[in-house]
Amino acid sequence: MKRILIVSGHTDLNQSFANRIILDKLQSILPQAEFALLDKLYPDFCIDVSAEQQRLTGADVIVLQFPFFWYGMPSLMKKWMEDVFVHGFSHGSTGDKLHGKKLLLSFTSGAPEEMYKHGGLQNYTIEEFMPAFKQFAVLCGMEWQGYVYTGGLSYANRNDEEKLEQMRIKSITHAETLLKQIELL
Ligand SMILES: Cc1cc2nc3c(=O)[nH]c(=O)nc-3n(C[C@H](O)[C@H](O)[C@H](O)COP(=O)(O)O)c2cc1C
Repeated sequence: MKRILIVSGHTDLNQSFANRIILDKLQSILPQAEFALLDKLYPDFCIDVSAEQQRLTGADVIVLQFPFFWYGMPSLMKKWMEDVFVHGFSHGSTGDKLHGKKLLLSFTSGAPEEMYKHGGLQNYTIEEFMPAFKQFAVLCGMEWQGYVYTGGLSYANRNDEEKLEQMRIKSITHAETLLKQIELL
C-alpha cells in the first residue's frame, strides 16, 4: 500500500476556511495517511529538520496542501522547504533520499480561476506559476504529478452566507478531486 504524506503549509489553520475543509475531508477519508500541519507543529517557524526528513523518506506520495500566498507557497511552507530539502538529502551528488517519490500540489486562491489568464487581473495562467515547483521536483528526483487547484476562495466572501456556502461546496469538491487523483498514483 502506498504511504501518503500530506503537508499543510497554511500559516494559521484556525483562520482558514477552505484549507481546513479540505484537510478535514482528507483526514476522514484517508485515516492511514500521515498529516503534518506545519502551523500546529511549528508556530515559531523552528522546523525539526530530522523529523521532517524522516517523514518524507517514509512516504511514497507527498501532497503539499496550501493557500496561494503572493503567487506561491506561504512563508511557513517555504521555511520548511528551505530547512528540510538540503544538499546531500534531497539533491546533490549524494542527495537521493526523495528519488522516485511522487509530488502532488493542492492549493487554493482568493482570486477566481477566470482572473488567471493573459489580460485578466492576474495576468498569467496558474500553469505559468508552476515552473519553480516542477523544477523543485525534478532537482530532487521526485515525480511531478501536477496540481489540484481551486480559485475564488476569498476572505472577502466570508460575511456573505450565500458565497460562503459556494466556497464550502468548492472546497469539498476540491478535496474529492484530490482524493481521486491520489487514488490514481
Ligand atoms: C498573505 C496573503 C497572500 C495572498 N496572496 C494571494 C495571491 O497571490 N493570489 C490569490 O489569488 N489569492 C491570494 N490570497 C488569498 C488566499 O489564497 C485565499 O484567502 C486562500 O486560498 C483561502 O484559503 P483559506 O480559507 O484556507 O485560508 C492571499 C491571502 C493572503 C492572506
